[in-house]
Amino acid sequence: MKKFTCAADIGDIRKAVDEAIEIKKNRFAFDSLGRHKTLLMIFFNSSLRTRLSTQKAAMNLGMNVIVLDVNQGAWKLETERGVIMDGDKPEHLLEAIPVMGCYCDIIGVRSFAGLKDKAEDYEERIIEQFIKYSGRSVFSMEAATRHPLQSFADLITIEEFKTVERPKIVMTWAPHPRALPQAVPNSFAEWINRTDYELVITHPEGYELDPQFVGRAKVEYDREKAFDGAHFVYAKNWSAYADPNYGKVISTDRKWTVDSDIMKLTDNARFMHCLPVRRNMIVTDEVIESERSIVIPEAANREISAQTVLKRMLESL
Ligand code: CP
Repeated sequence: MKKFTCAADIGDIRKAVDEAIEIKKNRFAFDSLGRHKTLLMIFFNSSLRTRLSTQKAAMNLGMNVIVLDVNQGAWKLETERGVIMDGDKPEHLLEAIPVMGCYCDIIGVRSFAGLKDKAEDYEERIIEQFIKYSGRSVFSMEAATRHPLQSFADLITIEEFKTVERPKIVMTWAPHPRALPQAVPNSFAEWINRTDYELVITHPEGYELDPQFVGRAKVEYDREKAFDGAHFVYAKNWSAYADPNYGKVISTDRKWTVDSDIMKLTDNARFMHCLPVRRNMIVTDEVIESERSIVIPEAANREISAQTVLKRMLESL
């Protein structure tokens, strides 16, 4: 595998989950695969889970790891071609990328949606430029429109906790004070749509996601109907995708906070969230602390999804 930015890149999803579960049984089984190989992790914005889990995954495989926070300690990077660089950015991404490629074998990139220009965000200019100009295998550690390592970990977690063959999964929008990208819900829908599980997406009107990600999922505006009989509740905030409100917060209605009352409509569902989560905005203390909450095992599986992707990339070098 030379690149990993979306669900299609992992190939057969069943095989990928099975491979991940095998890796989890003995995460040091391939500890010489990455010997003398270097992973460069580049962050254009903050991270806790992605940073730690991906570094740990690389270490499990025997890799060396370099981490660069672009906004702390590196030259500020210009990303637009054609700009007269007379401002505060002394280096262009088009030189920086091939230079970074000189020092490593595999590159992980964390970028973020600007939420101002939909076309620009959905072009995925930053990670696509790394793929084009680095000369290295490149994987997404969350980009503007997808978060595939998160969705892969979510799917591993669902596999581990499901009690029926084809669970009903409800992905629910929940309120948040700031505008957040659509990357996590886009990606979650994209990955679940590659299984035969039932996926229902519920949100207030105006928060419709890009139809290419919604795919075969059912959009149910009636929140109670959506939660009815669910086996997994996947909560997430996202900003509006539809024009003219792209990237805006159009509601912070706390009726959409996941609480014990709405969870009672489910079939004793497991509660999931990618974290970080704003308590009592997205989910109540009671629900996230309940024994039905699996947010910690979900985060733990980030190490396993990253290790599966890195292992496949190392095998293709
Ligand atoms: N879920 C997730 O990607 O967390 P971080 O932003 O902390 O990496």
